[in-house]
Amino acid sequence: MLLLTVVYLQEKQGKMSWANIKQIKFIILMSISCGLLYLHITFTHKVPHCTCGHCHVEKHHDAWFSERFNASYHPLMTRNSSHVSTETFLWWQHIQLRTAGWNEYRNAVDKLFQIIPDKELYMDGCPDCCRVCSVVGNSGNLKNSRYGPLIDFSDFILRINRGPTKGYERDVGSKTTHRIIYPESAVDVDNSTHLVMFPFKVLDLEWLISVFTTHTVKRANTPVKSTIKANLSLVSVVSPSFMKYVHYQWLQNHGLYPSTGFMTIVMALHICDKVRVFGFGADKNGNWDHYFEKTPPFYRTGGHGGTFEYATLKELHKRNKIEFYTRW
Ligand SMILES: *[C@@H]1O[C@H](CO)[C@@H](O)[C@H](O)[C@H]1NC(C)=O
Ligand SMILES: *[C@@H]1O[C@H](CO)[C@@H](O)[C@H](O)[C@H]1NC(C)=O
Ligand SMILES: *[C@@H]1O[C@H](CO)[C@@H](O)[C@H](O)[C@H]1NC(C)=O
Ligand SMILES: *[C@@H]1O[C@H](CO)[C@@H](O)[C@H](O)[C@H]1NC(C)=O
Repeated sequence: MLLLTVVYLQEKQGKMSWANIKQIKFIILMSISCGLLYLHITFTHKVPHCTCGHCHVEKHHDAWFSERFNASYHPLMTRNSSHVSTETFLWWQHIQLRTAGWNEYRNAVDKLFQIIPDKELYMDGCPDCCRVCSVVGNSGNLKNSRYGPLIDFSDFILRINRGPTKGYERDVGSKTTHRIIYPESAVDVDNSTHLVMFPFKVLDLEWLISVFTTHTVKRANTPVKSTIKANLSLVSVVSPSFMKYVHYQWLQNHGLYPSTGFMTIVMALHICDKVRVFGFGADKNGNWDHYFEKTPPFYRTGGHGGTFEYATLKELHKRNKIEFYTRW
């Protein structure tokens, strides 16, 4: 359109009259209208689903992925989804061999939803956008990685346990939208960060209630903080059904139960359109240090099926379901 206008202007050069100028104005107005109409059509008729260019869940059928991924499991607990099956409750009750019963569990859940929101979070599928998530683990392989800007360039940045950003921005980024914790690993978060707790026992639910109310729970498996800073309207708890699903469906029962890091990655597969994974696995010399501290000798992956989890992550990467950044 603009090109046509220019050509027209050139043709008319030399013999400009008042009438011609009117015509030119008309043409310019038409050009602008066409441009606006084009923009309108482009932006109101967006592809209805994920616009990432590549969506892990919707992409062509992948048998390996479909055997594991089941969209009917929602990661975060609501009052409704807290009514788990007996089988799930028994699995959950036994992972840490603490056998608080169903009544204690129900009491804790009831109290919990009096203080935290009872919402089906993130299950909207974010239909008109592409939710890019970065899951940031604590591996020493982040050291000197310079992944910071790439990590920060995400909609959700999920950090696990204590993993700090201050002083490590160049390698791990500076933003945190979600802090994933369990009581023994809890840290303070700012007033806009979502706090997501993995409960491994009824006491963990009681701890979460206590840190925002009575401050009486001071010990779980190890001493725990009796108070933490967080915005209560942004606190949520992962559902035991989801944890069991990850153990059975994704890890085929390897390990006692899945690691927090692995469960966070599967959670991201459920709530994001694109998942990037940083800071998982050993560094290139086979060390399992954290990027911010030396870990004790023989520190590995606790009771988790670490090797199986790692192999699953590599398979997800191979199948374009996650982008797995290891630097080597
Ligand atoms: C997904 O999980 C639900 C709930 O456990 C189950 O009913 C359904 O059959 C599963 N779907 C597939 C494809 O495995
Ligand atoms: C809980 O389940 C009931 C009945 O199935 C439903 O009406 C209600 O909307 C659900 N609540 C939430 C928060 O999902
Ligand atoms: C807590 O988060 C909500 C929701 O994002 C926000 O509206 C509110 O201002 C936050 N509270 C504080 C104290 O920052
Ligand atoms: C949230 O925290 C920021 C920075 O710590 C502070 O400036 C802001 O006032 C807080 N917002 C609310 C609503 O408390």
